[in-house]
Amino acid sequence: MTTHDSSPYPEPGNRVAELTLLYQFSNTMLSTIRLNKLTHLILTAITTPSSNLFERAILFLRNEKSDVLQGMLGITRQLSEGLQIVGDQDILGSRWEISDEIISRQRSTDFSMHVRQIRIDIDGPCLLIHKLFGERNPCRSDDIPCQTCQVCHFIRPTCSGSFVAVPLVCHENILGVIVVDNPDSGRNISDAHVNFLRLFANQAGMAIENSMLYNRIEEAHLNLKDARERLLHGERMAAIGEVAANLVHELKNPLVSIGGFAGRLLKSLPTETPQHHYADTIVSEVSRLEKMLGEILAFSRKPTICFSRCDLNEIIQDCLTNCATTFEDHNIKISVSGCDGRWSVSGDAHQLKQVFLNLILNACDVMPEGGELSFTLDTGETLQGKKTVIVCIEDSGGGIRKEMLPQIFNPFFTTKNHGTGLGLAIANRIILNHLGSIEAHNTAKGAAFTITLPLAERINS
Ligand SMILES: Nc1ncnc2c1ncn2[C@@H]1O[C@H](COP(=O)(O)OP(=O)(O)OP(=O)(O)O)[C@@H](O)[C@H]1O
Ligand SMILES: [Mg+2]
Repeated sequence: MTTHDSSPYPEPGNRVAELTLLYQFSNTMLSTIRLNKLTHLILTAITTPSSNLFERAILFLRNEKSDVLQGMLGITRQLSEGLQIVGDQDILGSRWEISDEIISRQRSTDFSMHVRQIRIDIDGPCLLIHKLFGERNPCRSDDIPCQTCQVCHFIRPTCSGSFVAVPLVCHENILGVIVVDNPDSGRNISDAHVNFLRLFANQAGMAIENSMLYNRIEEAHLNLKDARERLLHGERMAAIGEVAANLVHELKNPLVSIGGFAGRLLKSLPTETPQHHYADTIVSEVSRLEKMLGEILAFSRKPTICFSRCDLNEIIQDCLTNCATTFEDHNIKISVSGCDGRWSVSGDAHQLKQVFLNLILNACDVMPEGGELSFTLDTGETLQGKKTVIVCIEDSGGGIRKEMLPQIFNPFFTTKNHGTGLGLAIANRIILNHLGSIEAHNTAKGAAFTITLPLAERINS
């Protein structure tokens, strides 16, 4: 690839010269697919000193959802020197190029930042925009007594001459608008320049449309990749569940025998002997293993939910009563807020209780020397038309290491010597089955788990 300085731009009005310029532009468009770079190339090409076309250019793109013209970029002649011509020595085989450094310089000017704040309502009172969208032709500011929109307020005071706005049309759609003016010299924009700008804008419109389509395809591709990964993850989890279920089944029977015989030994051995202590250890470890295997089996089974109207306030109070002695032993201070009313959800009270118990047990594990555990219930954002309740459970146990946060809801992820790593995976599954969500984050003191559930109704609010 050869690089040469910007070629002498022909004076617009000269047909051969204009066609050469458009040809170069079309080569550039074919090799530039990123929208951001494209917008810089478009505006730099028409403001660069060698083109001698315009001293300033602004690009607006249409936001189809809100039907608003959104300021994207503004370039002045001082910052458009970096355009290079690369490729063949033959001008018809060459294209424009611009460095990342110049792109970032152009973006960070006050002018460009100001442009990015401009929003113009397409159906608003601006006469220029009405004319532009109605006629789809370039429009001179002098022809219209418009002072109403942000563009007029922004450009008119700094521009002694007129400005020209041209629509970017592609397939009958107006994708955006380019506005040009000459604020330094105050030179009027000639008809020849306006005509050239119109041809240029047609090409720019097509290039922008292609780039937007490419972006949409890329986004769809990423979504598809994401969905495929989630599917694979789901399949892997199902396979793990199956293996775990088989393993648990094989292990349970011998464990029952070991536990049973160890229990008999324990009864027959005199207390205060080492043998009694050994048998006692076998019995308690076997019962811990049995409990763990039970949990794994429960996780690998397809859960069934018995939906009924239940009150979260009651469920939480129930859990707190069950754990009262643990809190006392661990010197953990409990606080509850937002339990003044009834937070009714449609769900399985037994399973929801399991969620809160798993979270409470985790919190107790990280606060062996005491701490604070708070429960806050509040109204959440509407989810698919339904009101929601948010339960936030916050501890003061130091939090979860940042790199572990994405993994804690994975089955079998644990940092504990005797943990199965299923507590949060089970909680997550239960909440998802209740059409809610559970998230974890760190606070200044510890970890916070936020559960959002669709609300059946709230009485006595
Ligand atoms: N409140 C918390 N503070 C700090 N880390 C936590 C907290 N809750 C969970 N974790 C981390 O997340 C991991 C997974 O928790 P999870 O409840 O799924 O499994 P576990 O507690 O290790 O084992 P199990 O609950 O199956 O006995 C824990 O091992 C711990 O590292
Ligand atoms: Mg746990």
